[in-house]
Amino acid sequence: MALALGKTVFSGILLAVFILSVAKYLLLPLVSPSSSPTPAWLSLPALLALIIPSVVSGSRRLRNLPPGPLSLPVFGNWLQVGNDLNHRLLASLAGKYGGVFLLRLGARNLVVVSEPKLATEVLHTQGVEFGSRPRNMVFDIFTGGGQDMVFTVYGDHWRKMRRVMTMPFFTNKVVQQYRGMWEEEMDLAVADLGGAGGGEWARPEGVVVRRRLQLMLYNVMYRMMFDTKFESVRDPLFLQATQFNSERSRLAQSFEYNYGDFIPVLRLFLRGYLRRCRDLQTRRLAFFNAHYIQKRREALAVGEKNRQKKLSCAMDHILEAEMNGEISPENVLYIVENINVAAIETTLWSMEWAIAELVNHPKVQSKLRRELEGVLRGAALTEAELPRLPYLQAVVRETLRLHTPIPLLVPHMNLEEAKLGGYDIPKESKVVVNAWWLANNPAWWKDPSEFRPERFLEEERETEAAVAGGKVDFRYLPFGVGRRSCPGIILALPLLALVVGKLVAAFRLLPPPGEGKVDVTEKGGQFSLHLAKHSVVVFQPVNPPKLSSS
Ligand code: HEM
Repeated sequence: MALALGKTVFSGILLAVFILSVAKYLLLPLVSPSSSPTPAWLSLPALLALIIPSVVSGSRRLRNLPPGPLSLPVFGNWLQVGNDLNHRLLASLAGKYGGVFLLRLGARNLVVVSEPKLATEVLHTQGVEFGSRPRNMVFDIFTGGGQDMVFTVYGDHWRKMRRVMTMPFFTNKVVQQYRGMWEEEMDLAVADLGGAGGGEWARPEGVVVRRRLQLMLYNVMYRMMFDTKFESVRDPLFLQATQFNSERSRLAQSFEYNYGDFIPVLRLFLRGYLRRCRDLQTRRLAFFNAHYIQKRREALAVGEKNRQKKLSCAMDHILEAEMNGEISPENVLYIVENINVAAIETTLWSMEWAIAELVNHPKVQSKLRRELEGVLRGAALTEAELPRLPYLQAVVRETLRLHTPIPLLVPHMNLEEAKLGGYDIPKESKVVVNAWWLANNPAWWKDPSEFRPERFLEEERETEAAVAGGKVDFRYLPFGVGRRSCPGIILALPLLALVVGKLVAAFRLLPPPGEGKVDVTEKGGQFSLHLAKHSVVVFQPVNPPKLSSS
C-alpha cells in the first residue's frame, strides 16, 4: 500500500515536472523572447536524467502481465519505442519478447500478438472478449463517438450496423448484381490507358496509374452506393470527395497526436489539431449529405409518391432501414464515411502494390498473361471466369501477403480484463495482431520476402486460407477473421483479380524508360501500408483491348 502510494506521488511529481518543461518549451518563447535563464532543473535533459528507469512499473510484477520492456512512470515505454509503432518494429520486438508482449504507452496498454495460435484466440476463440475497438479523441471525432460500424465497440449497436450493411453491400447477390458494372468501369480505364481517351492516359513515359484507378474505384463504389458516377478526374465533385477523404486519412493516421492520446493532460496541446479534425469532418459529412444522401432521399420520395418505389442502390436500402427506425440519420452518414475509408483506399493500395510487383517481376507477368490467354481464348475477362484462373488468384493472394494493406488489422480491445496465452490482459487494452508478420515470418513461410505467387499453388497448396472461405489459416489474415473481420472481402477479392487480370491481358506493364524497376519502398500510417511513391507505369498494348460489352 505504502509502495503504491509512494509511486503515485513520484509519478505525480514527474508529471508536474514534465508539464512544466513542455510548457516552458512551448510557451515561454511566445510570452517573453528574452526571458531570464530558467532553472537548470526545468531543462529537458535534466528532466530526462530525472526519469531513470529506477521505478519499474510494479503492476507488471504484481499481476501476470505479458512480457515487455521495462517501463517508466508516466511515459511507460513511449520514450524507448517512439511513435512509429509499425509492423516491422513490432515484429522485431516480438523476436525479443515473444508471441504476445505488452507495451505501456503513457496511460495506454498496447498488447501485440504475433503468433498464429494466439491470433486464433484473439480473433476467434475469444472473439467476443477481444471484439471491441479502442477509442481515441481523433477517432471519436471521425466516428461521432462510435456511431459508425468499423470503430464502434462490440455490442448491440455494432450488430445492428453490420446487419443493416450486409444486405446492400456484402452478399454474393450484390456481386452478381454489380459485376457487369465493375467490368464496364474497368474496361473504360483499360481503354483510357490504351490511348482511347485522347492520349491523356497513354504516355510513352508512363502514367501515375493510381490516378486512373482511383477514378475507376470511386465510380465502382459510388455507383453501388448512390447510383451515380464522376465524369473525369477533373469533375469538381470527384476533386472534393478525394480531397476530403485523403485529408481524413492523413489526420486520422498521423502519429502526430499520439502524445495527447498516451498522456491525457497533454491533450491541452492538441486543441489546434482536434479543431482541424472537427472542421474537416463537419465539412466532409455535409458534402456527403448534400450531394449524395439527400439526392437518394428525394429519389425515394418521388418513387413513393408515384407508387413506384424501387430500391436501386445500397443507400436506398440503408435509408429504408432508417425509415423503419432501425438506424438514425447520423448512422446513415457514418456508414457513408466508413465505406469511403474502409472500401476505397484499402482496395486502391492493394491494386497499386499488385501492379508494382508485376512490373518488377516480368516472368510472373508473362506467366499470368499466358494463363489469361489460355483460358479466355480472345474473350474479355469477366467475374464468372475468375474461378478458372488459379494463377491470377495466387498473384492477388501473394500481393496481400507481402504487402498486407492493413498490417496490424484494425486494433481490437477487451472491455474487461482477459486472459491470453496464460497472461492477464488489463481491461481496455489496445490489442493488435501483427498480420504482416504472421504472413512474413521465415519460421512459417519459405523465403517470405520473395514475391512468388507459385507458393500458393505449390507448398501452400493445402492452405485453406481465410480468403478461400474454408478452414482458416491463422498465418494468413489480410482481412482478419471472426466477428470483426472484413465483410468487404466478398467485393475486394474479385475487384482486385478483375482489374489485375484485365490490365495484364491488355498491356505489358513496364517501368518508365531507362528505369529497371519501380520503387516499392513502403510507407505506413497508424493502419495502412502503402507505397511511399505512387508508381509510374508504362502500359504497352499487347492486343487491342477487349471490352466486356462487345
Ligand atoms: C483489399 C481490400 C481490403 C482489405 C485488405 C481489408 C482489410 C480489412 C481489415 C484487416 C479489417 C479489420 C479486421 C479486424 O479488425 O480483425 C477490415 C475491416 C472492415 N472492412 Fe475491409 N478491407 C478491404 C476492403 C474492404 C471493402 C471493399 C469494404 C467495403 C465495401 C470493406 C469494409 C470493411 C468494414 C465495414 C470493416 C469493419 C468490420 C467490423 O469492424 O466489424 N473493406 N478490413
